Amino acid sequence: MILERKKAPNIAQLGRQYDRQYETMLQQFDAQKSFETLSQFSALMQVYAGAMREISTKLENLDDEFQYRDLANPIHHMESRLKSLESILGKLQRKGLPLELESVKDNIRDIAGIRVICNYIDDVYEVAELLSKQDDVEVLRVKDYIKNPKPNGYRSLHIIYTVPVFLSDGPHVTPVEVQFRTIAMDYWASLEHQLRYKNTLPDTDIAEHSKTLLAVATQLSSVENAMQEIHRDITRHHETVDAIEAVASASRAQRTKENAAAIDALDTATPTHDAAANEAPSESSSAKAAASSAPSPATLATTKSVKPAQPVKPVRK
Ligand code: GTP
Ligand code: MG
Repeated sequence: MILERKKAPNIAQLGRQYDRQYETMLQQFDAQKSFETLSQFSALMQVYAGAMREISTKLENLDDEFQYRDLANPIHHMESRLKSLESILGKLQRKGLPLELESVKDNIRDIAGIRVICNYIDDVYEVAELLSKQDDVEVLRVKDYIKNPKPNGYRSLHIIYTVPVFLSDGPHVTPVEVQFRTIAMDYWASLEHQLRYKNTLPDTDIAEHSKTLLAVATQLSSVENAMQEIHRDITRHHETVDAIEAVASASRAQRTKENAAAIDALDTATPTHDAAANEAPSESSSAKAAASSAPSPATLATTKSVKPAQPVKPVRK
């Protein structure tokens, strides 16, 4: 499966999530802490879920097209997620922004997030470019951590797109954050994320592992570049062979057409033996008839532009 979908939360889900842990945050989010706010939030999340589907479908379509064209699929797999209410509110708080619905819409651009894991670095840029060029998609922000890795070694291409989601009241232009990375970058980022957020190691060990991860990021990058070169060479060769085959096939088709035309010309130009036999009461009249009706080879050549005595070449299959 290329795309893993998560449902946008509905009101029942939100109700279940509504525990003491962030009850206080919700109180700040809306003084009345009302059902209305929850349903507005839920409606907003549906729009983000729609935007995520729009972009995911576009990416799947592009990936499929490569397959139809007998080219290697650029996308290895995709993941998508909607930010939880808890982390949306947490992010607003960290940024010192008002805990309001409008503030969510205006300031949080990664509510809908898609991670596109590609096979090679070339694929990352090609897929990102093809998506960016689409008419209904706008590029809001690009952060290229592949060309400029983060100090800890993190590499990925982050692009925030907007896409219209058409609902009953019209289009809702909605942001979606897409992280494009290779398999190796994803492998690295998962472990780094684990080290940063999900471990109980002493600080000295974390520091040591972080140093190692930075060195590993450089090694992975050079391994990837070497593999990319091999892949480019294979692709180039494959394309050259395809191009030669296309020229050969076009020239075979052209020869077939010419042969058919030559045969047609000969058929119309030369009287058949049967016709000659039927018309031949005597040798002298038959010779006369032949002389008067059959054009001379010279006439044929000039009037029909066909070489009369050329043997027809066999068609090479
Ligand atoms: P925030 O979304 O508020 O973090 O700001 P931003 O959108 O400007 O951040 P950025 O685009 O740089 O990165 C956002 C996302 O990229 C994070 O949520 C992670 O998924 C991923 N990311 C960024 N930096 C790192 C990193 O150093 N390590 C790992 N593992 N992931 C990272
Ligand atoms: Mg972000």
